Amino acid sequence: MAYTLLVRHCGQLLTLAGGPAGRPLVGSHLSSWRIIPDGYVACEEGRIVAVGPMHELDLSQVTAGTAIIDARGHVVMPGLVECHTHLVFGGNRAHEFQRKLEGEAYLDILASGGGILSTVRATRAASEGELLDNAMHHLAGFRRYGVTTVEAKSGYGLDRETELALVRVAGTAGHRQEVRVVRTFLGAHVVPPEYKGRPTDYLNFLATDVLPALRGVAEFVDIFCEEGAFSTEDARAYLAEAQAQGFRLKIHAEQLHDLGGCEMAAALGATSIDHCDYLTPEAAARIAQLTAGQTVAVLLPLVPLFLRQEKYAPGRQFIDAGLPVAISTDFNPGSCPSKNLWLALSMACLKMGLTPLEALAAVTLNAAWAIGQERECGSLEPGKRADILLLSVPTYEEIPYWLGENPVQEVIINGVRMER
Ligand code: NIG
Ligand code: FE
Repeated sequence: MAYTLLVRHCGQLLTLAGGPAGRPLVGSHLSSWRIIPDGYVACEEGRIVAVGPMHELDLSQVTAGTAIIDARGHVVMPGLVECHTHLVFGGNRAHEFQRKLEGEAYLDILASGGGILSTVRATRAASEGELLDNAMHHLAGFRRYGVTTVEAKSGYGLDRETELALVRVAGTAGHRQEVRVVRTFLGAHVVPPEYKGRPTDYLNFLATDVLPALRGVAEFVDIFCEEGAFSTEDARAYLAEAQAQGFRLKIHAEQLHDLGGCEMAAALGATSIDHCDYLTPEAAARIAQLTAGQTVAVLLPLVPLFLRQEKYAPGRQFIDAGLPVAISTDFNPGSCPSKNLWLALSMACLKMGLTPLEALAAVTLNAAWAIGQERECGSLEPGKRADILLLSVPTYEEIPYWLGENPVQEVIINGVRMER
């Protein structure tokens, strides 16, 4: 079969391919040979079939039916993978912004019945149609930033019916447009008012009455391990039960305190450990060893910025300790109302010490690993989905440099050019 799409004469082709088999990229795996000057990507229907320098292009596969994009002077790279979002929610929390500016802390706002609980009220009050409209709107926004796969968590229902609706909405939204959605159940976000003071009872309820309905529907189960949310012990019991029911695991941990949640979840074989601002380099080294570099630390640099917390995960030291990192926005109405993954990438360089190449791997291949999609997306390799970005910049060094800009000129998903 001939090529259906050819992106040719790419100024700089960032394939992100060629890393170690069976593991995310870390540190020294990122050598510059993965950048091909004057390269091409060829696709057949929705899949990539060949990638390389122009002088190796097989011209016999280029026919009158091949759509051709000329990418001279442009960086071409894999579609972004957004591996941690709270996509589906009602309302917003603009009303709490002023409280935050006046110095009120995130956990204090939550303890007063606001924060996550305020979004829970707005979400319970919204219709499924409204929640779907909102999710579709946000997915369209992600797509404009070049995001081609999104992980979406539930967690603003905190009762059976609403939580199941949130997971359902994420699925429907994924089917109604091109950006792919991977679903995570975060019913264990905080303790709902109905279970106030009884976190263990609430987790038992989730494990017995809700998780069984999500088998084969949500891929991951996540929990917020933090003061004011769930203890490390409760989280361990809940995650172990979720694993026994067949779910892969994630955790929100070490965001505001060091409670040992990341190490606990890694010991259970969690696919990702997320936030990690208070994770020490020593614990990171133990996790890297324990998991043989399989568990990915998902770093969320826009969250400390938005929460006015000057503590950022020591990403440089994590990588040096052998712990692979991904970067995400954590898009949600409370701690990061931004979908700008490019800004998060720049912030990871500025505040967490990542190199531009490490940061690029962190929003593509390593992010795919963080949501179990490493065989499908995250790099430009034959066999993977043809999710490709053409950027307005000529070299990758300019990507983190143009702070807050969107460098995306063209988005291709599944071999199809998207409208802007
Ligand atoms: O990842 N930390 C807990 N959960 C979300 C924020 C949710 C919210 O504030 O609405 C997070 O930051
Ligand atoms: Fe989160």
